[in-house]
Amino acid sequence: MLWKTLLLALVATAAAFPQLKVPKVVPRVHKDVARADEATDRLVFCHFMIGISSNRKSAADYDTDMKQAKDLGIDAFALNIGVDPYTDTQLAYAYESAASNDMKVFLSFDFNWYKVDQAAAVGAKIKQYANHSAQLIVDNKVFVSSFAGDGIDVAQVKSSAGLDIFWAPNYHPGMGDFGDVDAALNWMGWDNDGNNKAPKPGDNVTVAHGDEAYLDALGHKPYVAPASGWFFTHFGGEVSYSKNWVFPGDLLWYNRWREILELGPRFVEIVTWNDYGESHYIGPLSSPHTDDGASKWVMDMPHTGWLEMSRPFIAAYKAGETSPDQHIQDEKLIYWYRPTPKDVECDDTDTTMGGTPDNSTGNFFRGRPDGWEIMQDEVFVVALLKSPATIKVTSGEKEGSFEAPAGASAFAVEMGVGKQTFSAVRDGKTVLSDTSLKDIVDECICGIYNFNAYVGVVPPDETVDKLDTVGLALLTQGLKAPCPTNTLGLGGGSNATQTRTSQTSQTNGSRTFAPTTSAMENPSSETMTLATSASEASATPTA
Ligand SMILES: *[C@@H]1O[C@H](CO)[C@@H](O)[C@H](O)[C@H]1NC(C)=O
Ligand SMILES: *[C@@H]1O[C@H](CO)[C@@H](O)[C@H](O)[C@H]1NC(C)=O
Ligand SMILES: *[C@@H]1O[C@H](CO)[C@@H](O)[C@H](O)[C@H]1NC(C)=O
Ligand SMILES: *[C@@H]1O[C@H](CO)[C@@H](O)[C@H](O)[C@H]1NC(C)=O
Ligand SMILES: *[C@@H]1O[C@H](CO)[C@@H](O)[C@H](O)[C@H]1NC(C)=O
Repeated sequence: MLWKTLLLALVATAAAFPQLKVPKVVPRVHKDVARADEATDRLVFCHFMIGISSNRKSAADYDTDMKQAKDLGIDAFALNIGVDPYTDTQLAYAYESAASNDMKVFLSFDFNWYKVDQAAAVGAKIKQYANHSAQLIVDNKVFVSSFAGDGIDVAQVKSSAGLDIFWAPNYHPGMGDFGDVDAALNWMGWDNDGNNKAPKPGDNVTVAHGDEAYLDALGHKPYVAPASGWFFTHFGGEVSYSKNWVFPGDLLWYNRWREILELGPRFVEIVTWNDYGESHYIGPLSSPHTDDGASKWVMDMPHTGWLEMSRPFIAAYKAGETSPDQHIQDEKLIYWYRPTPKDVECDDTDTTMGGTPDNSTGNFFRGRPDGWEIMQDEVFVVALLKSPATIKVTSGEKEGSFEAPAGASAFAVEMGVGKQTFSAVRDGKTVLSDTSLKDIVDECICGIYNFNAYVGVVPPDETVDKLDTVGLALLTQGLKAPCPTNTLGLGGGSNATQTRTSQTSQTNGSRTFAPTTSAMENPSSETMTLATSASEASATPTA
C-alpha cells in the first residue's frame, strides 16, 4: 500500500541513525533472549490492511480471513488503520468477525496518516475498541501497535484512552523513546541498504542487523520480530503514488522462519496478510479487497502456499522449539518462482516507462524494479516431510533433484522457461507430484516487469485462488499490452479440476486465454475504484 511506502520511517532512520548501517560482525542469535521463560506466552500476529478492505459489507466478509489465520496459528491480526471515512465501519466488522471466530485483533496506527501530534485522537480510538471481546489483551493491558509513530506523547495516548495499554509501536532505534514502550515492532523484514531499497555493495542492512538494533534498544522488553517473504512494488505513472523496487526475496520466507526459531522473540508479526501492492501477502487473492493498481502484478500470483509453509514453523515457535520438524502434519512441497527470467525485456510496454511520474519520494524507477539484479533466476522448493525422499524438479529444460531429509528443508533449481513440475519419490514410488498451473515464460506478462512470486503447493489446493472483479478494477489502467486475466487452470485440454484430481497427468501446455475481464465495465467496481483513488489521493505521504 501507498501508506506502507516506508518512506517516512526508513529514510528518516537511515539519515538520522547511522547505527542501523551494517555493523561488521553481528551474532545471529541474541543470547539475552530468555527463550524458555517466554515460550508459553509467545504470540504470532499478522499485519492486515484495513485500507484496502473498504468494500466489505458485513462482519461475515472477514470470516474466511479470521478462520484461515486462526487455523494457521495466528493469534491476532494487527489492523492497520489510517484516517479514512470507512475505517470505523470496517473495524466494527473485523472486531465482530474476530469475536465470532475466536480470534483476536488490535489496532495498528499508521503514522503515514495519523500525525504524531494526534496523541489524543489515538487514545480516543483505542478507547473506542478496547472493551471489545476480540481485543487482544497482553499482560492485562490493551495491546496497541503502529507503523512508525516515533515521538508521539504516550502519556497523553494513555490518558485519552483512559486505560493502561500495552504499547508496542514500530518505533525506530535511536529515534523513538524506547523507555515509553512495552514492546516494539520492527517492520523491516527484508535485507536493505539502510535507505529503504535493496542492499547495494557495502550497504547491506540484513534483517538480523535489524533484530540486533531492536533488541539492543529494547533491553529486556519484548520484541515484535518481522517475518516476511517478499517485497515487489511496481506502480508507474498510471497512479499518483508511483514506486518501483524489490527487496531480496528468493528463499527469505524459509530462511527468516529458521532465524525466528533461533531468535525466539516473544512476538512475531507476519508482514503481511493482504498488502498486495508490495507483494508480501500470504492471505488469499480472493480475500475481498479493492484494487490500488497492484492487480497488474498480483493477478494469477497466489501466495497461500507460504501460509502452508509457515504452519509447522509457527507451531514450533509457539512450543519454544528451534526445529519445525516435529510439527509437520501433512507432507507437502511448497514451491515458488518469478514468472519470467530477469533478463526478459519489457521496456516497450512496461507501465513505468512512460510519462513523468512524481518522484519526490525517491521511490520511482523506470523499467525493471530497483534492486532486480539481486533476485536469482531460480525455482525455490521447501519440502515438509515425515521421512526422507528424493525431490525432483523440472523447470522447463532444466532439472534438479535433491535428497531431502525428514523435516523441513529448502532447495533451489535454476529457472527454465516452460512447465514446472515437482515430485517426491520414496522407495521408488512417487508420493507427491504435480505440475504448476503457471509456466515460466520469456515474454512480458501483461506487458510489465513482474517480479512478484507465484507460489504453489503439492498436493495442490482444490480451488484456484483468484482475484475477484473488485480486486481487478484497475488491472488494465495504463497497460500497453493485452492482459489475459485469471488464466490459472485454464490450460488447453485440462481444467483446474482435472489438474487437481489427476496428479500424474501432464497439463496441456497451450494456454487458452480467457477474454480480458475489464472490471471498469462493472459499475460497482468502478465505484470502488473511485473510492480507492480518492483515499489514496487524499493521503499522500508528506515525509
Ligand atoms: C472498559 O472496561 C473497563 C474495565 O472493565 C472499565 O473500567 C471501562 O469503563 C470500560 N470502558 C468503556 C469505554 O466501556
Ligand atoms: C547481505 O548480507 C547477507 C548476510 O551476510 C548475505 O546473505 C546477503 O547475500 C548480502 N546481500 C548482499 C546484496 O550483498
Ligand atoms: C527517483 O529518485 C531516486 C532517489 O533520488 C533516484 O535514485 C531515481 O533514479 C529517481 N528515478 C528516476 C526515474 O529518475
Ligand atoms: C492441447 O490443447 C490444444 C487446445 O485445446 C489442442 O489443440 C492440442 O491438440 C492439445 N495438445 C495436446 C498434446 O493434447
Ligand atoms: C473440468 O473437468 C472435470 C473432469 O473432467 C469436469 O467434470 C468439469 O466439468 C470440468 N470443468 C470445467 C469448468 O470445464
